[in-house]
This record gives sequence, C-alpha cells and structure tokens, in this order.
Amino acid sequence: MDALLTAADSALRTLFVPPRASRACPTVPEFAPDSDMPAQDKALSGALMRVNHVGEICAQALYTAQALAARSGPQPDETLARQLEAAGREETDHLAWTRERLDELGARPSLLNPLWYAGAFGLGLLAGRLGHGLSLGFVVETERQVEAHLASHMDRLPAQDQASRAIVAQMKDDEARHARDAQSAGATELPLPVKGLMRLAARVMTTVAHRV
Ligand SMILES: [Fe+2]
Ligand SMILES: [Fe+2]
Repeated sequence: MDALLTAADSALRTLFVPPRASRACPTVPEFAPDSDMPAQDKALSGALMRVNHVGEICAQALYTAQALAARSGPQPDETLARQLEAAGREETDHLAWTRERLDELGARPSLLNPLWYAGAFGLGLLAGRLGHGLSLGFVVETERQVEAHLASHMDRLPAQDQASRAIVAQMKDDEARHARDAQSAGATELPLPVKGLMRLAARVMTTVAHRV
C-alpha cells in the first residue's frame, strides 16, 4: 500500500508540479538571446524540446514503476528499488531543464503527458516483473536508445540554439552513464525483437509528441 501511494504521489508530482532541478541548468558562455532566433527555428527547437520533455516524463514513469515492481514482487529487491529511485531522481533534473527550456522558447509541453506517463508506467511494471537482470536490461536498452535519440537532436537543433544544445549534450552524457550503471549492476541483454519493439514504441511517441 505504501509503495502504491508513493507511486501515485510520484505520478501527480511529475505531471502537475513544476519540477525542481538539483543541478544548475547547463548553459554556454556564448549564449545568444532567443529573440534573435528566426520564428521557424524557434518552432523547431520547441518541438524537439517537447519530445525530450516527454522522454523525461516517461523516464520518471519507468523508474518509478520498475522500483515499485522490484519492491513489491514475489522476491522483493530493495537494493534494486533504491538504485532505480536514485536514477529517477537524477532524471528530475532533465525534466526540469527541458520544461524550463520549453517555457523560454514559448512552446508548450505535450497535451498527452498523462497518457505517455501511463503507458510508460505500464511498460515499467512489466519490465520490473521480469526480475533483476531483465529489468536492468530494459534500463540499459532504454537509456542507450535515448542517448542515440539525443545525439540525433544535436544534428537537428538549430545551430543558433546553444541553450537547448547545452541541455541536450548534458542529458546525453547522463543517459550514457545511467546505461553503464545499470549494466554494471547486473543487466541481462534483452532479446533483439524486444529492442525492436521498444524502438517502434519510441518512434510513435517522438512522432506524435513533435506535434501534440
Ligand atoms: Fe533523462
Ligand atoms: Fe537516464
């Protein structure tokens, strides 16, 4: 019951309370004001950062659900639950930075955030039920796919948008580290078809969130 209340609290917090970062938002010295950016570039940055914000909403849901599953499964794994929660806390920085950047760009977060959260939460519960190795394997694969996705944004973001680039670059480094941490905690490699399905689900999310 306690675990369920914690999960519900985390969901409401993620969706409705402005996130607070524990690390300062990454910035660059040669920061160009957003007002100098052409409207088209600004719109593109807004769409890409909305996708990244949705990714972080999903990260909160995944880590919370996987921690819940680890703690409440047939063989409670408190160490794993705590590790997942710690990673989730670091993702809160990403959530706050992307949200802040959306506001600066005058873009709005995805209207479907409750839906993204619910979907990711379900996936996280499923992954968490598969046990220590596969649950961590799911983290590794998710973080690797997010890292590759963020790398593609470094190509797609307008050259002038240094502020978004600084955030995405730092997130990319963090996600790579999350993957390494999960790997060294005893992750099992996921089967190829599962990785393919995850990529497909991510593509649906990124395509829709780009617009809505
Ligand atoms: Fe993240
Ligand atoms: Fe991550």
